[in-house]
Amino acid sequence: MKLGTRIQLSITGLIVFLLLTANTAIYLLFESRSISSEQDRLIGIAETVIKKLNSREDQTTEQVLQAYLISNGLIRIVLEDGTPVDQVSTDKDFFFIQTAFKDDQFEQVITFRDARFAVISVPVIGDDGAVINLQIVENIDRLYETIDDLKWVLIVTSIVLAFVLFLVSWFLGKWISRPIQELTYTMKTIEENESYERIDVKKETKDELTILASTFNRMIDRLEASYLKQEQFVSDASHELKTPLTVIFSYIKLLRRWGTTRPDVMEEALSAIESESSRMRYLTEQLLQLAVSEELIENERGKMNISPLVEQTVKRLRVMYENDIQYTIQRPVIMADVHEQSFVQLLIILLDNARKYSDDVIHVSLNQDHEVIQLQVKDYGIGIPKEAQPYIFDRFYRVDKVRGRKTGGSGLGLSIAKRIAEQHGGMIKMSSMEKEGSVFTVLLPKSEA
Ligand SMILES: Nc1ncnc2c1ncn2[C@@H]1O[C@H](COP(=O)(O)OP(=O)(O)OP(=O)(O)O)[C@@H](O)[C@H]1O
Ligand SMILES: [Mg+2]
Repeated sequence: MKLGTRIQLSITGLIVFLLLTANTAIYLLFESRSISSEQDRLIGIAETVIKKLNSREDQTTEQVLQAYLISNGLIRIVLEDGTPVDQVSTDKDFFFIQTAFKDDQFEQVITFRDARFAVISVPVIGDDGAVINLQIVENIDRLYETIDDLKWVLIVTSIVLAFVLFLVSWFLGKWISRPIQELTYTMKTIEENESYERIDVKKETKDELTILASTFNRMIDRLEASYLKQEQFVSDASHELKTPLTVIFSYIKLLRRWGTTRPDVMEEALSAIESESSRMRYLTEQLLQLAVSEELIENERGKMNISPLVEQTVKRLRVMYENDIQYTIQRPVIMADVHEQSFVQLLIILLDNARKYSDDVIHVSLNQDHEVIQLQVKDYGIGIPKEAQPYIFDRFYRVDKVRGRKTGGSGLGLSIAKRIAEQHGGMIKMSSMEKEGSVFTVLLPKSEA
């Protein structure tokens, strides 16, 4: 069921129920009040009649009763066995109305030949000392007509009110559910068009729907960003993988043609295939690194002393590098909240670049001032041209493709380093001068010991 319809039906249902209850109560109260006040009036008459009967001089009982006869009814005196002795009436038919005898006063409403009558009975001591009943019976059809009028007024107003409410709640339902419908419509459009549309958020209202819409917009922002990133990544990756594959493919064709007869061609082809496939392996490893989820790093992070970590890494790489690596570590204990492997990888990426793009000594330093930890890798190599500097942290970006090829990189190192720094709540900076060298600085928040 639609939200609007649900609102409409529940409001109408509730109000109709309240109306019915209130109107039934009004009706019943009015009916019983009207009848009992009529009966009170009749009892008043009966008491006057009794007084008159006791103080009469030469009037007969019937004459007294006649004097107090009401406009549409009868007055009678009933003996203990139920037989009326004296009675006067405005209509002879009323004599056939049966009434009971009781020792106590009583009031009731009876039906006689489709007409309704109010009956009151007051016990009196008769002339002979026995208890008799003085009873007045009055036709109250007129009274019931008024009660019926009220009934119809209540029924008609209830129906009119229910109808009006039905319409009002229909508008209300529409009004409340319209923003939701708009929201749903936009979401559907986005789904169908596979586009990234945003919902118009009205600034002045701060209700739940606005919050929902803003949340949705933020979600779309993130989706779009991650989609664009992914798209970029896939196109970059396939582009990068295509080149070695094309090379391998051409050399295989060459092998098929000349392989058996020309050993020099076979040698060249095999070594080219070997180097291209090792490049591809390196590339895919790097790509997998980039795909490591942030949660993994987040969960496996821990407080540790990174001074020995830096020292060990530098010593390990020194053996493999042709360049000399110098290091200064400010304190033996520098605590940081890091994912060990990623942190070491970050340092290796920077050292690897310094090695590839310089022939001179490399300086590594680790410092800590009151708030941040600074890890710096400095080289005196070829440097990075000014115009290339904004892009070196982008995936697959390499300053000079030809020069890059010789050093065999994929252009992913610095983008991985940047990501690692950011995952640790830090950042990476660079300053470089062409032909003079480069400095890469990683800033990390420090952790209490
Ligand atoms: N220390 C440096 N000196 C000079 N140029 C650098 C230095 N570090 C990075 N670059 C330039 O920035 C580019 C991007 O570096 P990045 O580490 O991302 O990729 P790569 O070293 O080419 O390949 P990979 O690290 O993935 O093997 C490099 O191609 C190089 O041109
Ligand atoms: Mg690199």
